[in-house]
This record gives sequence, structure tokens and C-alpha cells, in this order.
Amino acid sequence: MSSNGSHVNGNGSDAVGVSFESFSETFSQVPQAVTVVTTKNGDDSAHGTTVSAFCSLSVDPPLLLVALDRSSDLLKLLRSTMRFGVNLLSGDQAEVGLTCAKKGADKFQAVSWTDEHGLPRIDGAAAWPECEVQELLPGGDHVIVVGLVTACETEEAEPLVYHRRRFLQLT
Ligand SMILES: Cc1cc2nc3c(=O)[nH]c(=O)nc-3n(C[C@H](O)[C@H](O)[C@H](O)COP(=O)(O)O)c2cc1C
Repeated sequence: MSSNGSHVNGNGSDAVGVSFESFSETFSQVPQAVTVVTTKNGDDSAHGTTVSAFCSLSVDPPLLLVALDRSSDLLKLLRSTMRFGVNLLSGDQAEVGLTCAKKGADKFQAVSWTDEHGLPRIDGAAAWPECEVQELLPGGDHVIVVGLVTACETEEAEPLVYHRRRFLQLT
């Protein structure tokens, strides 16, 4: 048993005996890259959501995955566009990460972006994989979006990191 209460049935614990607090505290210790996953609305406007559940999955074929909450508006859009871009935020883009963590159809209006093959690419992002949705898989209260990477680019910029509920720069 850990010192912060893992495996203890107490307040907020679920059927397997891990409380939301201990689960959340444990994963707050994991340094995570901060991305904004983007796609287009039907009217050609852009939508973006801050996502840290992101990783590479396969090299051949080139696959990556992101996990989206079932209630995500972005997830709803992805079910129809079936395409998305992943903007790996740069160290100086914490404000963009905060903006895109809000709800609302107009949250992306304050973000500076360029159209890249019909997808919204955030100016100054450290890396940019472009994807077609290959699979949507169940993952508890999230949906695992498997993306086939159709293009990739990187910039000379250090990435933004999220650790212990704070945005950090590497340098
Ligand atoms: C650092 C950070 C990381 C986040 N990671 C995720 C994530 O991996 N998946 C997710 O669904 N939401 C994540 N969120 C929360 C969403 O950004 C937030 O719920 C957003 O309002 C959803 O917007 P949407 O409904 O337009 O998709 C994260 C928020 C922050 C601040």
C-alpha cells in the first residue's frame, strides 16, 4: 500500500478500491507532453482541445494514439471529420494549453493557426503529426483514438511539459 492511500477503500473509492484522489495524485507525478488536438468544424472554423494522453503506438504502419473523454466536443467532431492534427506545444505556449482546456465552440478564436492540408496547425508548435482516424476504441470513460500518421513535421523548439498540475519549460 502506498503512503497516499492506494488500495484503500475510503471516500471516493470505486469497485476496485482505488480512490480518484490516489489515482489522480499518482499520475500527476508523471511528466507529460502537452498537445492540442485539432480538427475543422463543418463551417471550416477550427476546434482544438488540450490533450496530454498522447503517445506513439507503431512505426510500421505509423500510428499514434490520443485518449479523449467521452463528453469531449472534439471527439464528436472527429467522428465526422475522421482527420486530426496533433500540435505539440512549445515551452512558451502554456497560455494556448489553458485556452484549449476550456469548453466552447469559440475557444480557438484566440489561437494563432495556419491551414495545413485542411487541418488547423498552431503557429510555433514544436511538432505536428497529421492523422486519419484509424480506430475509435473504448477506454473506460475515455475513447482511444488511433491515428494513422499521414505527415509529420518538427520545429526547433523545446516542448511544454505538464507535471504536478503545473506547466513547465525544459529550459
Ligand atoms: C494539461 C491538460 C491535459 C489534458 N489532457 C486531456 C486528455 O488527455 N484527454 C481529454 O479528454 N481531456 C484532457 N484535458 C481536458 C480537456 O482539455 C478539457 O476537458 C476540454 O474542455 C475539452 O474540450 P472539448 O469538449 O472542446 O473537446 C486536459 C486538460 C489539461 C489542462
